Amino acid sequence: MLTQVIAHRGSSGIRPENTIPAFIKAIEEGADGIETDVHLSKDGAMIIMHDETVDRTTNGTGRIFDKTLSELKQLDAGAYFGYEYLGTRIPTLQEVVELLIKMDFKGEFNLELKTDKIQYSGIEAQVAKYFKNTEIPFHLIYSSFRPKTVQLIHKLCPETEAASLFKLRTKSAKKFAKSKLIQDWHPSIAWVRSHRFFLPRIQLRPWTVNSEDDMRYCYKRKLKGIITDYPERALSIRREV
Ligand code: G3P
Ligand code: CA
Repeated sequence: MLTQVIAHRGSSGIRPENTIPAFIKAIEEGADGIETDVHLSKDGAMIIMHDETVDRTTNGTGRIFDKTLSELKQLDAGAYFGYEYLGTRIPTLQEVVELLIKMDFKGEFNLELKTDKIQYSGIEAQVAKYFKNTEIPFHLIYSSFRPKTVQLIHKLCPETEAASLFKLRTKSAKKFAKSKLIQDWHPSIAWVRSHRFFLPRIQLRPWTVNSEDDMRYCYKRKLKGIITDYPERALSIRREV
C-alpha cells in the first residue's frame, strides 16, 4: 500500500487553510486524504478552524467558543491569505462533509477534535452522533492531542479509526503505545525522525511533512500516511520513488 498523502487543513500551502477553496484544491490535486480541525461555537455549531481564536486567519478577534455561528459567518477567512480569497467564510463541519459528498471524495477524512486547549464539553458525543446519522463515501479517522478525547471517541464509535496526536516532547507517547484501544499514532515528523524504530502494530501518519527530504524519508519507510500542506508536491515525489 502506498503511503497516503493527506492534505493538512486542505491544500493549505496554496489556499487559505481550513476553507472550502483549500479542500476543493486538495481533491482536485488528487490527495488521498484531508485533515481538518473542529471546535464548538457558543451556540454549539461544529466549526472548522485550526486556532482556538479567529485572530490569525480572519478579520475578527476572540475565541470561537465565545461567538455564535452567525457571528462567525460574518468574518472573512480568506483575505489574510490573499486578496483573491476575500469573502471566503469559515465553514462548518457539515458544510465540509457536504462538499466531500458532492465531490464524491472516497479518501481518508482525518478530523482532529481540538480539545487540547479548550475542553469543549460534549464535542466527542456530538461529532460521533453527527457521523452516525450521516452516510459518508469516505474513510473517517478521528484524532486529538488530548488522550481522554481519543479514548472517549473510540468508546463511542469503536468501528472508526482513532489516532493519538503528539509532538516530539510529549511524555504520554509511551502510554498511548501501551493502550490497546488506540490503533494509530499521528506524531510530528520531528518525533519520527528522532525515533529510528517503529512499533509494527502502530500506523504512523506524521505531520507536517512539507520538505522533499521528509517526504522521501517517510516513503522509504512505507509509513501509512503523511500529513502535508503541499499534497501536489508530495504526490509528485511519491511517483518518483
Ligand atoms: O493532525 C496533524 C496536525 O494537524 C496536528 O497539528 O497543530 O496542525 O493541528 P496542528
Ligand atoms: Ca490539525
